[in-house]
Amino acid sequence: GTAPDLVGRHVVVSAGGTREPLDPVRFLGNRSSGKQGYALARVAAARGARVTLVSANSALPDPAGVDVVRVGSALELREAVTKAAGDADAVVMAAAVADFRPAVYATGKIKKKDDQEPEPLTLVRNPDILAEISASRPRPGQIVAGFAAETDEALAHGRAKLATKGCDLLVVNEVGESKTFGAEENEAVVLGADGSETPVPYGPKEMLAETVWDLIAERLPELPEE
Ligand code: C5P
Repeated sequence: GTAPDLVGRHVVVSAGGTREPLDPVRFLGNRSSGKQGYALARVAAARGARVTLVSANSALPDPAGVDVVRVGSALELREAVTKAAGDADAVVMAAAVADFRPAVYATGKIKKKDDQEPEPLTLVRNPDILAEISASRPRPGQIVAGFAAETDEALAHGRAKLATKGCDLLVVNEVGESKTFGAEENEAVVLGADGSETPVPYGPKEMLAETVWDLIAERLPELPEE
């Protein structure tokens, strides 16, 4: 049974994977399906929250009772998340945000030229949205959570990442060729800035979502009396 423990709260969840455009028809992307972020949004809505889901290129249908903002690139995702985070009690960054984007966007389709080697692709850094929100905390008492996909020494890397990002919670999952991305199930450890470690056994992405909201709910400041 789901407790309505998020009634009166506004939460923001990012989901999916960003696409960094090269030209009007091409992009650099990743394999994120959006399933974990959508599960987080559904579970938060079921627990009574007002939910803004910032969705990057997911093929999933809009969950019922959730405000969905669709975005493409990391810069678009940043704008939408920053705007929605202004009055949010919690922000969960589940989206796979590209660390880099092409330095130049060609407004016309890039053409191959006969007998010519291709131009090298120059990339520039994208802003770290999770770190920005964690540092700015537009609303007092706001809880910020992120995800980290690690391929080896997941916990040690996760601890270091939690500190660098400055968030309250970091969900660490091990990824591999067939693990996590696009899968229905997930296995993770949720690290807290307070030193806590909450293992979540292999299971549906909803189960991990429930644990994330449990950990957020217990960290939220009390709602003012009516
Ligand atoms: O540094 P790394 O990409 O592993 O961090 C993953 C976490 O940081 C995720 O929560 C992701 O949504 C967030 N992130 C971000 N902005 C970026 C890169 C990652 O908010 N440019």
